[in-house]
Amino acid sequence: MKRIKLPAHIAIIMDGNGRWAKRRFRPRAYGHRMGVQNMFKICGHAFNLGVRIVTVFALSAENLSRPKEEVDELFELFRSYFSKKKERMYELNVKICVLGDISVLPADIQESIGEIERATAHLTSGLLNICVNYGARQEVVRAVNKAVALGRFVDENSLESLFYTGGLPDPDLIIRTGGEIRLSNFLLYQAAYSELYFSGKMWPEFSKRDLEKAIENYSARDRRYGNVREE
Ligand code: FPP
Repeated sequence: MKRIKLPAHIAIIMDGNGRWAKRRFRPRAYGHRMGVQNMFKICGHAFNLGVRIVTVFALSAENLSRPKEEVDELFELFRSYFSKKKERMYELNVKICVLGDISVLPADIQESIGEIERATAHLTSGLLNICVNYGARQEVVRAVNKAVALGRFVDENSLESLFYTGGLPDPDLIIRTGGEIRLSNFLLYQAAYSELYFSGKMWPEFSKRDLEKAIENYSARDRRYGNVREE
């Protein structure tokens, strides 16, 4: 990869698993299974390149309204990778955090998530945030309610500290695969100055080289944060 300005924090909307599978005459669940494998490949590559934080959208709050069969299949994938195949998580050698309201998950999956978070809490070379039953609007409402319960007015800093992402830098780059050009209730507040990159590739086929292209594209952008550029 060329000499580039690396984003410290990349967030990814891993869209297109279902369509990718359908095009291959396979069930949607197969697309999700291949999607998880690609998540490990792409996140691993991002960390190898020197990205410090990767935040992936694994299940939106709205995804829970999908047919029960598909939700159950996604829960089964979580069960698998947070429990039986958790070595795959540990291989990334980064701290892992699950962001979102996980109280809707079966108790055994919640326990496995806690175990993985505790086991990786000391790792400092990188951070992988996995958003599960996450919605940005829900995150803002939750934070405001926390502030109300504490009897506090908020400013930007104190509000942000009450988010699931509290204390983390905002994503520099948000990548969405699958061809749709929208954020779908993902990190809306944190995305205020994120650079957005949309790929037509379906998530299971998004390659390491595609990630590098997204980073190269980001690197060439002029981030002004509403200011003017100094010549
Ligand atoms: C969007 O594709 C993807 C999802 C709703 C789920 C993504 C989840 C994973 C990759 C699994 C994560 C698992 C672990 C263990 C962290 P879609 O189904 O909306 O695709 P479509 O738009 O083609 O229908």
